[in-house]
Amino acid sequence: MSNRKAAITGIAGYVPEDKLTNADLEKMVDTNDEWIRTRTGIEERRILKDQTKATSDLGTAAVKELLRKTGVKPEEVDMLICATATPDHLFPSTANIISDKCGLVNAWSYDIMAACSGFIYSLATASQFIETGKYSKIIVVGADKMSSIIDYEDRATCIIFGDGAGAVMLEPNDEGLGVQDSILHSDGSGREFLHQKAGGSLNPASIKTVENKEHFVYQEGKTVFKFAVSKMADVSAEIMERNNLKSDDVSWLVPHQANLRIIDATARRMGVDNSKVMINIQKYGNTTNGTIPLCLWEWEDQLKKGDNIVLAAFGGGFTWGSLYLKWAYTAN
Ligand code: UT7
Repeated sequence: MSNRKAAITGIAGYVPEDKLTNADLEKMVDTNDEWIRTRTGIEERRILKDQTKATSDLGTAAVKELLRKTGVKPEEVDMLICATATPDHLFPSTANIISDKCGLVNAWSYDIMAACSGFIYSLATASQFIETGKYSKIIVVGADKMSSIIDYEDRATCIIFGDGAGAVMLEPNDEGLGVQDSILHSDGSGREFLHQKAGGSLNPASIKTVENKEHFVYQEGKTVFKFAVSKMADVSAEIMERNNLKSDDVSWLVPHQANLRIIDATARRMGVDNSKVMINIQKYGNTTNGTIPLCLWEWEDQLKKGDNIVLAAFGGGFTWGSLYLKWAYTAN
């Protein structure tokens, strides 16, 4: 059997410049910095204020930087997958738009919608196309303009989310480095606890849906929290066990950044020390599909060839999963 694996060979990220701090939110809704920090770990988020710009613009900025860093020419890219919960339009896909804006004239592209687990789902999907030998250069981008679906009068949700994007280049690796394993789950019965009520075929947009604020994120936080803690920790422990990884073998845990308490619970369950957990929730909040690639981007200089990295996520659907990869290069 071929030992062809799919390895990340480059990473880039993009966050908008404008910050929305806890102090700003204190002026908008009945909340306070202490509550937000202790309940979530978040101090500020980035917001794409330009109303003429969308999720594809966040993704395009990340992909253009990725192409610059890796030296890959746009026409060399075979395929692009965009993980997003806030597509520019319901159709065409945001992946098509990013590919157009980046000049990926030979790539075919589509979106994967799996809420906060979308980046892991997409990485697992893309890696199959590399492992089979079908393609050699695939870009996976996680991008969300969450501010476009947040009600800034709802203190339970507006404190959590931010905008951002990250993108990785996937290429074949014959040294056994790259994606080793993934465990993915979904359970649609969880949909009632975290969803956007209107705008789809069930409740098309109408004056009533707008008046009722049904185009915003709806979340029953406590229930989602309970599921997130147990599912993200379980699946991360399971992937370690299946791959004979002991706590000391894990170089880095890259958790979805939804809540610092969920991240801590996952790390504890895996027995992974805090110093090996990528956390940037304080700066960006929950950027949905952007969280995991934004972490990898920020930590790139500390990653070494051969590092064992476990990604983990939980999100609306419910969807959840974890992915184990061996990092393929040492930067610089
Ligand atoms: O990424 C996708 C998956 N999503 C998640 O993983 C998110 C999971 N859920 C969470 O992270 C947490 O449930 C939240 C951060 C959303 C909320 O934290 P919590 O500790 O579960 O708070 P709670 O909803 O149980 O609310 C506790 C109290 C309530 O007041 P009472 O009823 O105890 O008087 C809320 O009304 O805190 C109140 N509260 C707030 N207070 C100040 C809710 N939001 C706020 C706020 N500021 N922003």
